[in-house]
Amino acid sequence: MAETLTRDDCAALDASDPLRELRSLFTLPEGVNYLDGNSLGVMPAAAPARAAEVVQREWGEGLIRSWNTAGWITLPQRVGDKIARLIGARPGEVVAADATSVNLYKVLSAAIEIAKVDRPGRRVILSERSNFPTDLYIAQSLARQHGFELELAASHEIADRLDDRVAVLMLTQVNYRTGAIHDMAGLTARAHQVGALALWDLCHSAGAVPVDLHAADADFAIGCGYKYLNGGPGAPAFVWTHPRHTDRFWQPLSGWMGHASPFTFDTAYRPAEGVSRYLCGTPSVIGLSVLECGVDTLLAAEPLGGMAALRAKSLALSDLFIAQVEARCAGHGLRSVGPADRERRGSQVSLACASATAYAVMQALIARGVIGDFRAGDGSEAEPDLLRFGFTPLYTRFVDVHDAVTALSEILSTEQWREARFNQKAAVT
Ligand SMILES: Cc1ncc(COP(=O)(O)O)c(C=O)c1O
Repeated sequence: MAETLTRDDCAALDASDPLRELRSLFTLPEGVNYLDGNSLGVMPAAAPARAAEVVQREWGEGLIRSWNTAGWITLPQRVGDKIARLIGARPGEVVAADATSVNLYKVLSAAIEIAKVDRPGRRVILSERSNFPTDLYIAQSLARQHGFELELAASHEIADRLDDRVAVLMLTQVNYRTGAIHDMAGLTARAHQVGALALWDLCHSAGAVPVDLHAADADFAIGCGYKYLNGGPGAPAFVWTHPRHTDRFWQPLSGWMGHASPFTFDTAYRPAEGVSRYLCGTPSVIGLSVLECGVDTLLAAEPLGGMAALRAKSLALSDLFIAQVEARCAGHGLRSVGPADRERRGSQVSLACASATAYAVMQALIARGVIGDFRAGDGSEAEPDLLRFGFTPLYTRFVDVHDAVTALSEILSTEQWREARFNQKAAVT
C-alpha cells in the first residue's frame, strides 16, 4: 500500500523503474527536490552546449549563412514535427513559434471566421470559468472585435451548456489549478454535435499526459514549450490546426514568415499552404534550439514506451503523494482538490490547506529545497488557495515524493510555516 511505503521502499521502486535513466538527461541542482515542472520544466543537460553552439558557431561564425546552413529557417517546422509526435498530430501539422497567448489569438480568430461562414448568427465562445486567465483575456478581446460573447461555465456544466448558440468551445484540457483533465474526445464530439468547433489549450497536457488530437477529432490546439516540454523560460509555444481547417482562412497576424514565398518580398500577402501560415515573424532561433533539446528529452522515452509509460509513472508518483499526504499529514486539514478518479488527474496534485496559510507553507517548503508552487484562490470554499505539486516522470523519483511529504509533515506539525508567513514580501516566487 502506497501510504505505508518507507523511504527505502521508494528507493527500491526507483531502482526498478524502467524510466530511471531518463533523469540523467537533466541537470538538477544539488539539494533541490523539484516538483514544479508544471510551471517551468527542468533544464535538459544538453541545453547549455546547444545554446552555446547556436550562439558561438551558428551565429558567431556562420552569421547570416546559418539561416540555410544550420537550418534556422525551418526550425519552427522541425520542432513542430517533434511536438506533433507527443500530441497525436501528423508531420507538417504543427509549428513552434510565438507565445501561447499569441497562438491562441491566431487559432481563435480562425475558428471565429470559420464559424461565421459555416454557422452564421452564432455569437458565443464557451469556456470554463477557471480556465487560465490569458485564454479568457484573449477570448474577450476577440469577442469585442467580432461582436461575440464569451460565456463561462463551471467544469461540470460545460457539456450541458453546449447548444446551437455556441460557435467555439475553447478549453484547456488539464486545469492549471486542480489538474483535472477534460474528456477531450467526448466534449469535442458534443461540440460537433451542436455544430460548434473545439479548440484546446494543451499547456498542461503536452508532454504530461497522452494526447491524441486526431483521435479526438479536435479542430485547433495550442500549447506552451516551457512546462512539460522543458524548453526553458519563455520558450516558443506551438500551434496545431486540423488539416480540414488549415487552408480555409488567413490567420490575422499575417506576417512575412507565414507568406507562401517570404523571400520574393511581394507587396501582396499570400498565405503559405499548411500550418506554416500560422507563423508570423522571424523565428526565435535560440529559443527554438533550446526547446528542441527539451522536446528531445520526451522523445527519448519513445523506446521505453513513450507517453503511455510516462503517464503510468506520473500516476504512480501522484498516487504515492496523495496516499502519503493522507497518512503522514493527517490532522493538518490538507485536502486534495483534484478529481478522485486517477484517470482524470493530470500530472499534478493540488492541495488546499485548512490549518495553515498555503502561501506560507509553500515558502517553508521552498526554503527546505522542496519546490512546488502556490496559486491564490478567491477565498471561497470552491476556489481555495492551493499548494501545487507537479510530478514530471522524466526526472522525479519516488524518493522525491517521500522526501516532499516528510518536509510537508514537519512544516505543518512544527508550525514552521508561521515564520515563512511573516516573510511573505521577501519571498515571492
Ligand atoms: C493553460 C495555460 N495557457 C496559457 C498559459 C500562458 O500563456 P503564455 O505562454 O502566452 O504566457 C499558461 C501559463 O501557465 C497556462 O497554464
